[in-house]
Amino acid sequence: MQNILASGFTLAIVIAGLAAPSTQAQQAKRAAPVIEKVKGYGTHFQTSDRCVACHNGISTPAGEDISIGTNWRTSMMGNSGRDPYWMGSVRREVTDHGVASQAIQDECTICHMPMMRYEAKLAGGKGEVFAHLPPDLSKRSDQYADDGVSCSVCHQITSEGLGTRASYVGGFKIDEKTKPGERHEYGPFDIDKGHTRIMRTSVSFEPSQEKKTIQSSELCATCHTLLTSALDAEGKSIGELPEQVPYQEWEHSEYKDTRSCQACHMPRVKEEVPITSVFGEPRDGFSRHTFVGGNFFMQRILNRFRTELGVQAQPNEMDAAIERTITHLQSEAAKVTVKNVEIQGGRVSADVSVENLGGHKLPTAYPSRRVWLHVTLRDRDGKAVFESGHLNPDGSITGNDNDADANKFEPHYTEITRPDQIQIYEDVMAGADGSVTTGLLTAIRFIKDNRLLPHGFDKTSAAPDVAVHGEAEKDPDFVGGGDTVRYSMPTGGAQGAFTVEAEVWYQPVGYRWAMNLRKYEAPEPQRFVRYFEAISPASAVVLARASVSR
Ligand code: HEC
Ligand code: HEC
Ligand code: HEC
Ligand code: HEC
Ligand code: HEC
Repeated sequence: MQNILASGFTLAIVIAGLAAPSTQAQQAKRAAPVIEKVKGYGTHFQTSDRCVACHNGISTPAGEDISIGTNWRTSMMGNSGRDPYWMGSVRREVTDHGVASQAIQDECTICHMPMMRYEAKLAGGKGEVFAHLPPDLSKRSDQYADDGVSCSVCHQITSEGLGTRASYVGGFKIDEKTKPGERHEYGPFDIDKGHTRIMRTSVSFEPSQEKKTIQSSELCATCHTLLTSALDAEGKSIGELPEQVPYQEWEHSEYKDTRSCQACHMPRVKEEVPITSVFGEPRDGFSRHTFVGGNFFMQRILNRFRTELGVQAQPNEMDAAIERTITHLQSEAAKVTVKNVEIQGGRVSADVSVENLGGHKLPTAYPSRRVWLHVTLRDRDGKAVFESGHLNPDGSITGNDNDADANKFEPHYTEITRPDQIQIYEDVMAGADGSVTTGLLTAIRFIKDNRLLPHGFDKTSAAPDVAVHGEAEKDPDFVGGGDTVRYSMPTGGAQGAFTVEAEVWYQPVGYRWAMNLRKYEAPEPQRFVRYFEAISPASAVVLARASVSR
């Protein structure tokens, strides 16, 4: 099937697979355009295809392609409306809390399909998920939905309320008062009149300098602060969970005064470069729109199942982005050291220390992320005589109670003496009945949160939203900047010299999180489980490694 984007620039997109999930969804889909008839609908945003016409075709003097649109469309934000894990997860929530389906779909689109949802709200409606899937790109609302966290969302966010509770959970405000045709796209630079006119004539938005706002971490905090309301069977709220709070973690760290979200996630170009391919003059302080983060796993899925998912980034661009994410993880996320190796009484013991180099907890944000230690003791022949934290091809970790049984999990350890004890840095959620859950709207609290703290983070003075939970709270060497674990490993009579190998692993979507979707017999969760299984051997990477022989 071919669709033509209703814009000056024609794009052919092939969308296949994914049959419409139900007749109910199809009815909703037919009804969707009614909202498009509301006066002013569709004037508040432009889709990215309009912007990239001028903001692509840019490279550094060394030849690196830093085209804004090309970089952005490989990012998770450029694909937030196509993310199959998100879709599977929304389906799960509306299945678990059926009576609240409309409210849930509205909530889940605030940040993942922000243009569609903002316009719907202004028009007196609600955000919908399945009515826009798969997108019919002849419809304005579907174009908005498909374009995810697009250029003209971030670039229209005003300073109103930034950094306050009202701005969180996607509570950013754009300029709703100024007449269409006179609105602005804010940026860090001072642009002269001639240049502002060129852009305004083309897209009806004028570039305008708002350096403080666009460069603030508080801008990112709007969507990156997710406080979820847990629902009971009747769809009534029974409590609040700080599901994603990287900004608050950052605020309690030493990076608050030294590095913004942008500083790490939009790496600067050193040289002066133009910011547009037309009438661009060299400017100092160009920020790459790579939004490099940690989710190489979903980038792999998007690339491999690109046709079914309607991905626009080209395969070579996506390959480069996956590479970039992994390089970022392997150079900027963590360090590990092995110290104090001792051999005594049939055991080899060692201290394994892991350092968090990032600006918030490691891992941070979406609670399916996990980091763990893989420690192996080898004898003189290189044979493994002890191993804790081995990754299996199906994406599970040998000996992890949570992967074997959804109701259990590994505690935080200070000392590990058996192979079935694994140090996993993660947050584990519980529902009102106290049982372990991966249901975002079922969870009311964390029963474990030993994610590695960033430098400067004092756990004793941390606010409840970013608090440490479980045994790590009392572990004296679990502090801002990292953690140390003592490994005491039986040699089983093997002969030295011994080698202690330590690796820090990272997996964006933990095995349990994927497997818990299996019981939902709807197309989206089933499809995601299929993708997970196809990718699982490549679902985790090593962030750092070290070894000591004695
Ligand atoms: C017809 C070409 C053209 C199109 C299309 C276009 N722009 Fe621009 N844009 C420009 C020019 C020219 C400048 C100024 C370049 C300069 O002076 O260095 C600019 C500057 C900007 C800036 C920097 C503003 C600042 O003050 O730092 C932003 C942000 C921006 N554009 C966003 C967008 C967005 C979002 C879209 C799509 C809605 C878009 N542009 C579409 C030509 C265009
Ligand atoms: C306040 C904004 C916001 C809202 C509201 C929101 N999300 Fe998200 N969601 C995010 C952000 C930001 C991320 C990425 C965080 C990260 O990469 O760790 C994310 C990530 C996810 C992921 C992981 C995607 C992946 O590829 O790994 C899933 C699944 C998800 N959200 C489901 C939902 C569901 C279901 C809802 C509605 C109940 C929802 N989200 C509502 C902001 C939001
Ligand atoms: C998630 C938010 C976000 C999205 C999405 C986004 N930008 Fe930006 N953009 C920024 C921020 C933040 C800056 C300024 C960074 C700084 O100066 O520290 C910026 C800077 C710019 C600039 C100035 C040149 C530069 O790179 O520093 C232009 C032009 C621009 N963006 C255009 C675009 C276009 C076109 C798109 C869509 C293809 C887009 N942006 C998508 C947040 C965003
Ligand atoms: C309009 C809402 C919105 C705003 C504003 C926003 N984000 Fe995001 N961001 C998202 C969503 C939604 C996702 C997750 C998409 C998914 O996984 O499907 C995300 C994901 C990310 C990721 C995760 C990538 C990965 O690989 O795991 C990074 C990094 C990120 N955003 C950085 C930023 C930065 C930096 C800013 C501020 C300049 C910002 N975001 C502003 C909504 C937003
Ligand atoms: C000192 C550098 C640094 C700063 C400052 C920083 N980050 Fe990160 N961020 C990282 C690194 C490294 C990763 C990859 C490791 C990880 O996932 O934690 C990352 C990952 C992320 C992810 C993806 C997490 C995942 O695993 O899915 C999100 C979302 C994110 N950061 C948001 C933010 C926001 C919002 C801010 C500002 C409040 C911010 N970051 C500030 C370095 C930084």
